[in-house]
Amino acid sequence: MGFFDEPFDLTTAAEGRVEGIAKVTGGGKYAAEYKVNGLCHAVLVGSTVAAGTILNINTNNAKQVAGVLGIITHLQKPLVPGMANEEKIKEARFGLPIFHTDKIYFKGQPIALVIAETLEDATYAASLVTAEYKEDTKIVDFNGALASVSLTPAGKDRGDIAALNNAAQTIEAEYNIKAEVHNPMEMHATIAEWIADDKLKLFDKNQGVNNVQRTFAKLFNIPVDNIEVISEFVGGGFGSGLRVWPHALACIMAAKLVKRPVKLMLTRPQMFHSVGYRPASWQKIKLGANADGKFVGIHHQAKNGTSFYENFNEGITRVTRLIYHFDNLKAEAATVPLNLSTPTWMRGPGDCTGDFAIESAIDELSYKLNIDPIDLRMKNLALAKHPDSGLPWSTNYINECIEKGAQMINWKDRKATHSQNVNGDWSIGYGMAVGAWNAGRGTASAGIQMQKDGTLTVQTAMTDIGTGTGISMQNIAHESTGISKSKIKIELGNSNLPPAPSQGGSNGLSSIGGAVVAAVAALKLKLAAYAASQNEAYKNATAADILMSDNGISFKTANNQFISFTSLWEKNKLAILEVEASSGPGTERQKYAFCSSAAHFCKVRVNRKTGKVKIERLVTVSDGGKIISEKAAANQMSGAAVGGIGMALMEEQATDERLGTLVGNDFAGYHFPVNADAPIIEVAFINKPDPNINPQGSKGLGEVGIIGTAAAIANAIYNATGKRLRDLPITPDKVLLG
Ligand code: MOS
Repeated sequence: MGFFDEPFDLTTAAEGRVEGIAKVTGGGKYAAEYKVNGLCHAVLVGSTVAAGTILNINTNNAKQVAGVLGIITHLQKPLVPGMANEEKIKEARFGLPIFHTDKIYFKGQPIALVIAETLEDATYAASLVTAEYKEDTKIVDFNGALASVSLTPAGKDRGDIAALNNAAQTIEAEYNIKAEVHNPMEMHATIAEWIADDKLKLFDKNQGVNNVQRTFAKLFNIPVDNIEVISEFVGGGFGSGLRVWPHALACIMAAKLVKRPVKLMLTRPQMFHSVGYRPASWQKIKLGANADGKFVGIHHQAKNGTSFYENFNEGITRVTRLIYHFDNLKAEAATVPLNLSTPTWMRGPGDCTGDFAIESAIDELSYKLNIDPIDLRMKNLALAKHPDSGLPWSTNYINECIEKGAQMINWKDRKATHSQNVNGDWSIGYGMAVGAWNAGRGTASAGIQMQKDGTLTVQTAMTDIGTGTGISMQNIAHESTGISKSKIKIELGNSNLPPAPSQGGSNGLSSIGGAVVAAVAALKLKLAAYAASQNEAYKNATAADILMSDNGISFKTANNQFISFTSLWEKNKLAILEVEASSGPGTERQKYAFCSSAAHFCKVRVNRKTGKVKIERLVTVSDGGKIISEKAAANQMSGAAVGGIGMALMEEQATDERLGTLVGNDFAGYHFPVNADAPIIEVAFINKPDPNINPQGSKGLGEVGIIGTAAAIANAIYNATGKRLRDLPITPDKVLLG
């Protein structure tokens, strides 16, 4: 494993993914791709109104279609015990009580499910289902509904923000961000099969198989172990797979009804209202500083959209308490119910929204104070301790991220005054912003199966949603055993394997890494116990004393005197050695605070005639502790940065207020960056291990790659043009009119 201080070059990095070949050759199976005997197909029918009550549903024509096996509506459905009554529905906290209500909360809400022999039969029959509704007044316009909810405190105040009145300079501004949709490449899909009345098998796209198990065990009142969930390959998630969504339940109900395995895959348009999204948000910031640049305080107000059947608070002001010293701080928040489906976590949830406003305001303040935005941040970073908890950071190298990024982008080429760097129709500008994320860790388990030839199979139920969990587990197993990587196989994404938390919140590797280390220690002890029959000295060996390599096991002090695995296996008549161990956070969390961080730097060109913004360079430097797998980590960061470009310039889930409809809910209408919109993202890491967070010293990276990216871009646009654009996405019309 190489430590690297230089910017990472994705194009020359050697190390791939353990699952790479399976993925690119089509060998890897995604949820909808499994061949299951007797499989039939289900298609959802969506409500055509955004608010109201179903008066009746007409399924007669659909039933006549050849191949139709059954139709589910709220009037005719298999029993779901966990939704038997209002009380149970509340208790289940499942979200939309699909087929267990006549209420309509949003347009597209499933009102029926058609099951048929083929996808074509089901799709055609679904098109024939009609319904009558009693329509209610609908609200889908977030900004229009803003005033209808009042702010309430979000956490404890610090000091007194009245101090802002005496600040030398203040910024007071509002920020609006449109809803964004995850849109992973793989659409959500479930294949459900009832193996017995109380035994369920699912091939399902999600970010946590154990979470899926628990959810359905509760809903169907069956033991968790009676449910097998297989999610071996997951084609992206970005948060959309962290909850269990109604379509998966619908598929399981269908399998119950027709007593056959059923497949339900969402269409791309259905993805826009079925699996969450980043809610629209409004923020107001008042930020002040002394003439020397020391922050006086911040008043942060935030509102985000939610649905009428659930309250989703995104936590927009969490990041306000994370990065900088504010002696005086007041944070307030509210959610705005809309006739839309419930939003959910989307990459950098809350923090990347709040961070956009804060980092835009700081940039604006820097011009007022005539202090370089880097210097202004450096003066105010909370580098010693978590500003809220007061616990010292275990490690926090956000300042080093800034220094390195400034070097990489040649920050000195930036003009301190806006609109000074002009080339023909193009204005050139530089901007930067930082981001941080509370670095977590959950309890996870890993298993190892070892064969006589010294090969290892390392297992966990955790999914790898494209983040590189598999390759990172392989690296940790290799580092801690000395066994060649080619002899270490990784198995994951199956609920029959040792349990693990969902992959989300930048917690995946942070959680599973320790479990792999613990399983290796257990394996070493087991090997030592068998070796004791050949060499008494192994009797009292601890895991730390044992050295492993492809040659066998040895003592660290024994100068490569190895007992071969072959002889161990033969002497002890072993077939396969199996160990399982778990690992999780401990008392270190009472002593230290943990965060990952990143600094983002951007060079843009803005065309003054068309308003077109071209990202010329995007540099992302991150502190994610020790980097376990260089290429996967760099992929994480560059992917997140591209997401940040989308957030800054393109992504917008528009709604039509008149019809209550989502607009552009497909890949023609919903724009995100393609290769032509994104430069090669320049990624670097600080790569210093965090000695306390977990055995391998890695902090999460999934979120920080996007927290601050949009602000860096908006700040660069200001530097280029003098236009302070506070509403995302910054489309050409806003650049021209702003
Ligand atoms: Mo993510 S929002 O942690 O999948």
